[in-house]
Amino acid sequence: MPAGLASLIYLVSAALFIMGIKRLQSPDTARNGNLMSGLGMLIAIVVTLLDQQIVSFHVIIAGVIVGGGLGFWMARSVKMTSMPQMVALLNGFGGGASLLVAGAEFLKAGMFGEPLAIDTNITIQLGTLIGSVTLTGSFIAFLKLQELMSGKPLTFPLQKTFNALVFLAIAVLAVYQVVVPGHQAEIYYAMVGLSLLLGVLLVIPIGGADMPVVIALLNSYSGIAAAMTGFVIDNQVLIVAGALVGSSGLILANIMCKAMNRSLANVLFGAFGGDSAGGSTKSAEGLSVNEVSVEDAALRLAYARLVIIVPGYGLAVAQAQHAVRELADLIRKNGGEVKYAIHPVAGRMPGHMNVLLAEANVPYDQLVEMDDINPQFPRADVALVIGANDVVNPAAHNDPSSPIYGMPIIEVENAQSTIVMKRSMNPGFAGIQNELFYHQKTSMLFGDAKASLSALVGEIKSL
Ligand code: TAP
Repeated sequence: MPAGLASLIYLVSAALFIMGIKRLQSPDTARNGNLMSGLGMLIAIVVTLLDQQIVSFHVIIAGVIVGGGLGFWMARSVKMTSMPQMVALLNGFGGGASLLVAGAEFLKAGMFGEPLAIDTNITIQLGTLIGSVTLTGSFIAFLKLQELMSGKPLTFPLQKTFNALVFLAIAVLAVYQVVVPGHQAEIYYAMVGLSLLLGVLLVIPIGGADMPVVIALLNSYSGIAAAMTGFVIDNQVLIVAGALVGSSGLILANIMCKAMNRSLANVLFGAFGGDSAGGSTKSAEGLSVNEVSVEDAALRLAYARLVIIVPGYGLAVAQAQHAVRELADLIRKNGGEVKYAIHPVAGRMPGHMNVLLAEANVPYDQLVEMDDINPQFPRADVALVIGANDVVNPAAHNDPSSPIYGMPIIEVENAQSTIVMKRSMNPGFAGIQNELFYHQKTSMLFGDAKASLSALVGEIKSL
């Protein structure tokens, strides 16, 4: 295929990626946008297979079967709540792939005695560093989220100095390989080893609660590594796709940090969320909570004019999205109005609540973003908090010593009354007490969210 034609088709795929991403902005066009980007990728793959000198199609087909089979199995078996760790693994593999391509190009040049152009050599070194950090960093993020390793920040004395020294050693080796002619595989391997170590060192001091931000950042790294690989093998579509992933990952990390009112530096180096028992300065000792029965809660909901539902991580754990929709339908049938208050970091991944509620076909116009819903709480008869904790914690407003102080929250405390559904008095992901549960206007309905919602539905039906 003529090189000009291949470049033109790559341009079409890149345009499809960008239009696809644009369409992801609204739920109405998202499905279509996803298909569009997928089509762009399919075209890019076909052109690459036709254009490059393919060594062996057998190996590629075997890779497609094994990789496709594993992907199919993962997509079917991984639970929605485990999605962040799956994304972490996939990011890691992306970084690993970039590392392998960069390494293969470097070692191939050495083997055949071909001198590498300086710009290619620089991108190989950068691709190796970023790909390795992404690989091991993502793996540690996976282990933390899967609870195969403690979610607490792992710190040791002079950690930042040690990390800086490792980075310096990598930089020296990389510069040496670019400046001194000849390809010394041993030095390259040493650099790969140190870069893999750096990935581990950078992620172990970050607490489990901040892992979603780290994953978005590692996603960005995997994109940058892919773009570097694109430069190394002179493939424009890889450069564009890598740059898109790199920038969107960074934007996402930034959005999450803003929603938590934290800086990226604080997430990366702040060792937040250490001790799950501590954190709050306010003790719950001596305070008591009001418990409510299913019967009383059902009565209040059945006759409410406005109910604002605040979903959180617990709703996802309980898989209660269909039950909550059933309850909302019943309230509406009784003449009440129902809205859902969506906090940008409710759950464990961006858009978690939107995806969960969409699964139960909750109409999208009933989902109201935090800034728009907060002024409406004073006229809500009931704020129904389902499996949410940190995102409704008033300590974020009135306790300067709280680790979540300054984080914007859903202001349920302004509602006429609040019903909180959770299983116990255990804290949420930030590991801190929630004074909302002890308010006079708050009633606790203890139990698994799905079981409680089903009981409420049954009760309202029998009224
Ligand atoms: P959390 O504060 O984690 O609270 C979830 C609550 O759900 C827990 O208190 C738990 O209490 C309850 N729960 C668990 N399983 C349940 C079940 N089966 N039935 C009923 N309740 C159940 O959740 P949130 O309010 O959604 O806040 C999210 C947290 O994650 C924030 O700290 C946020 O900063 C952090 N975070 C999120 C993101 C993204 S992108 N979403 C990114 C970074 C960090 P019990 O154990 O007593 O039931």
